[in-house]
Amino acid sequence: MYKKELNSDDLLKIIFHYTAKIASERQLNAVLVHMADMGRELILSDRCTVWLIDEESKQLYTTVAHGVDEIRVPYGTGFVGSSIVSGEPIIIEDAYSDPRHNSENDRKTGYRTKSIITVPFRNNDGNIIGAYQAINKLTEVDHFTPRDLELLSLAASYAGKSLESVMLHQEIFDTQREIIAKMGEVGEIRSKETANHVKRVAEYSYVLAIALGLSPTEAELLRTASPMHDIGKVAIPDAILNKPGKLTPEEFETIKSHTDIGYRLLHGSRRELLRAAAIVAGQHHEKWDGSGYPDGRQGEDIHIFGRITAVADVFDALSAERVYKKPWPMDRIESFFREERGRHFDPRIVDAFFAHLPQLLAIRERLTDDEESAE
Ligand code: C2E
Ligand code: SIN
Ligand code: SIN
Ligand code: FE
Ligand code: FE
Repeated sequence: MYKKELNSDDLLKIIFHYTAKIASERQLNAVLVHMADMGRELILSDRCTVWLIDEESKQLYTTVAHGVDEIRVPYGTGFVGSSIVSGEPIIIEDAYSDPRHNSENDRKTGYRTKSIITVPFRNNDGNIIGAYQAINKLTEVDHFTPRDLELLSLAASYAGKSLESVMLHQEIFDTQREIIAKMGEVGEIRSKETANHVKRVAEYSYVLAIALGLSPTEAELLRTASPMHDIGKVAIPDAILNKPGKLTPEEFETIKSHTDIGYRLLHGSRRELLRAAAIVAGQHHEKWDGSGYPDGRQGEDIHIFGRITAVADVFDALSAERVYKKPWPMDRIESFFREERGRHFDPRIVDAFFAHLPQLLAIRERLTDDEESAE
């Protein structure tokens, strides 16, 4: 069954539909899939792939689309490679009569490639950042035409800008994530708390956030930010931070400043990850009944990220050995949380804590302190 070429109304509909979708999307993968779908529908091909350049590994790669898993090829190989290197589109009627065709993929997948079209696309600076490639025309003509070339180029220029901004967003998010993980480690090294303390707090926070009905995006944001809760401890003198015994009231006052210090280090950024981290650092010692520090915030005036991290942090502190305390047995921890429900902690979060205790204990088991390498 052949498909009929589209009229300009159909084409406009497709373009509007997908450019709107792409413009509101922030996940790189999703943008690539929308782009591939748009290309495939516009020129009636069986498959369409968006290739991007990985500068670091000198490879071209695609993500999952149209039944094809991520593929990587060395930069410059295949039709897509030559098209990206030359900056020129390529139209091929029969791939098997062209020496650039790599039939290896067909052999592996049992797919029969015949006609191919490849169109490079550029970012705002005019540099080539990838290429569209469509395979096997589904109309009676059976191969791609100059009109297809025009349409695919159009799709590339519409989508290229969004693609670039999404890639930049991804880059920034990854960078922030890396910096935050590093800073969290700095906090740990100073106090004798182990590397796994912040990892456990991150995982507990995530489980509790999901249990409380936060969206996966919010929960993920908290997971990334919560390792920073004690970053302000970098400014606390060793003699106090690692004092084996009980702190004097003055020493405890000094320790309490780690919340304000952490908050001041991180706030003021417009980056959502750093903003979340600032909230967690500033509010993880606030208490539901208003008796916490630094500000004595009460109830829902404490950000949900702060309330969740408080439960996660104290659970971990009580479970663990500290220079100043032995690990508590589980029954004592449980009665502590029951007592502090509605006092130190948000009652809903304590309920979520008990409802998901097996999952929390599994995390504690997996990330034990004597298994530092465990991920
Ligand atoms: P941390 O060790 O990470 O403890 C976090 C929180 O867990 C504490 O916040 C507290 O709410 C809870 N927690 C930990 N251990 C116990 C405990 O034995 N009993 C009870 N009821 N709760 C406990 P908090 O109290 O605001 O302390 C903040 C930080 O100050 C602690 O972080 C720790 O670094 C330091 N710190 C607190 N007390 C002492 C102490 O007696 N000696 C030393 N060297 N440091 C202390
Ligand atoms: C390529 O551009 O080399 C991949 C497509 C193919 O040759 O089958
Ligand atoms: C604080 O608790 O110190 C300030 C945190 C905030 O206002 O977000
Ligand atoms: Fe703290
Ligand atoms: Fe902590």
